[in-house]
Amino acid sequence: MSEPYEIAILVGSLRKGSFSRRLGDALVKLAPDTLTFKYVEIGELPYYNEDLENETPPAAWTTFRDAIAPVDGVLFITPEYNRSIPAVLKNAVDVGSRPYAAGVLNGKPAAIAAQTPGTMGAFGAAHHLRQMLVALGMPTMAHPELYIAKTHELVTEDGNVTNEGTEAFLKSFVDALAVWVGKHKQS
Ligand code: FNR
Repeated sequence: MSEPYEIAILVGSLRKGSFSRRLGDALVKLAPDTLTFKYVEIGELPYYNEDLENETPPAAWTTFRDAIAPVDGVLFITPEYNRSIPAVLKNAVDVGSRPYAAGVLNGKPAAIAAQTPGTMGAFGAAHHLRQMLVALGMPTMAHPELYIAKTHELVTEDGNVTNEGTEAFLKSFVDALAVWVGKHKQS
């Protein structure tokens, strides 16, 4: 059997008890064994500033970039802040998109999982993020679309899904991600 594809998970929430991270844990549990995952933390990245993009960029940028560089794909899990993505996730996208033409995120296959404890599924956040990923040339899975509302009712603190329909849907999403990464991964 060939090696599984490695997926970096970027979570757009820093808080303990994040529902986005719960959703990530659920997706990891349901994923096929053709995928492995690692969470890459984004909370300590200094704000992107081109003046710092020199031979010695901030150490946290380098750690982040080194973690992303070897992966085959990226799974973004985002909550919605004011109908867009949280600033911390935008900053991670910016750090991963540079230096110009050499960003570690550029060209990697991606998927977006959006969630909210509210009712509208964080649709606005998902589509702002999708727009950003176009600029990075990241082929971003179109189907199935994943917008989870009432996450706190559907996924437990341990990352278990509370109903069969949602579980089957989340499984179909990670199954599709495995196929997507196989098709679009960089050689
Ligand atoms: C929110 N929240 C929110 N929810 C939503 O569905 N649409 C929105 O536009 C917003 N806007 C928003 C702005 C700000 C500044 C905060 C702090 C929160 C609520 C949000 O969905 C909720 O806090 C989630 O729990 C965030 O995800 P995590 O932290 O649980 O992963």
